[in-house]
Amino acid sequence: STRTPLMAGNWKMNLNHLEAIAHVQKLAFALTDKDHDAVEVAVLVPFTDLRSVQTLVDGDKLKIKYGAQDLSAHDSGAYTGEISGPMLAKLKCAFVAVGHSERRQYHAEDDEVCNAKVKAAFEHGITPILCVGEELEVREAGNAVPHTLAQVEGGLKGVPAEQAESVVIAYEPVWAIGTGKVCGADDAQEVCAAIRGKLAELYSQELADKVRIQYGGSVKSGNVAEIMAQADIDGALVGGASLDADEFVKIVRFRD
Ligand code: G3H
Repeated sequence: STRTPLMAGNWKMNLNHLEAIAHVQKLAFALTDKDHDAVEVAVLVPFTDLRSVQTLVDGDKLKIKYGAQDLSAHDSGAYTGEISGPMLAKLKCAFVAVGHSERRQYHAEDDEVCNAKVKAAFEHGITPILCVGEELEVREAGNAVPHTLAQVEGGLKGVPAEQAESVVIAYEPVWAIGTGKVCGADDAQEVCAAIRGKLAELYSQELADKVRIQYGGSVKSGNVAEIMAQADIDGALVGGASLDADEFVKIVRFRD
C-alpha cells in the first residue's frame, strides 16, 4: 500500500521529564534517515514531558514526532486538571491518543466523549489516534468486530471527510494490552480489514485506503514483523516495549 507505517510508542504513565530527554536522545542517536524515510516514528508522552521533548526535537531538528496521550474536549475554562487541544497545539504536538482503553476503563470515556475529543484534536491541527478494541468477554462471545466497528463509528460521528482521511485508528484488543498475549495476526487482520470496510461505508473506499490502522497489544520486536505483514495493518501502538529504546528501534526496523 502507499500508506507510510506509523510506529508510536505510548509511554503511558512512565518516564519523568529528565528520563524523557535521555530516552528521546537514545532514539535520535539510533534512528537513521533511512529509518525515518521508511516509517513515521512517534512517542506519546506524559503531559509533563512534552515541553522537554519539544525543546529537544525542535532544537536538534529531529524527525521523531511526539504527542500526548489524551486531551480535553474543551478549549479552555473551569476544567481543573485537564489539558486542552490549544495547549497541545502550542507545543507542536503532531498526535494525540483518544479513547485509549485505559481512559475508557478508568475515566469512563465513552464513544460520545471520544468523538468530542477527536473533533477537538482536528480543530487544533493535531492528528487523533482513535483507540478501539474489545474486552475478552466480547471476543469470546464472538462480537469483536461489531463492538470495534461501533467504537469507530461513534468516535468519528460528524467528522468530515477532509479530517477523517488523516485520522489514525489503533485497534487494541483490551485482553492483549500489557498481558503478553498478542492477538493472532490473522485475528488482528480480520478486525483491521473490517475497520477499513467501515471507513469505506462511512466515507469512501478512497478515503478508507488512505487511513492508517495500527495494531496495539503486547507488540515487541519478536512479533512485529508478522503483524506488519498483514494487509490492513499499517503500524503499531506500542506500550511496554516502547520504554526500552533499543527494543523500540528494533520495532521501527520491523523489516530487517
Ligand atoms: O497503547 C499501547 C497499548 O495499550 C499496548 O500496550 O504494548 O504494553 O501491551 P502494551
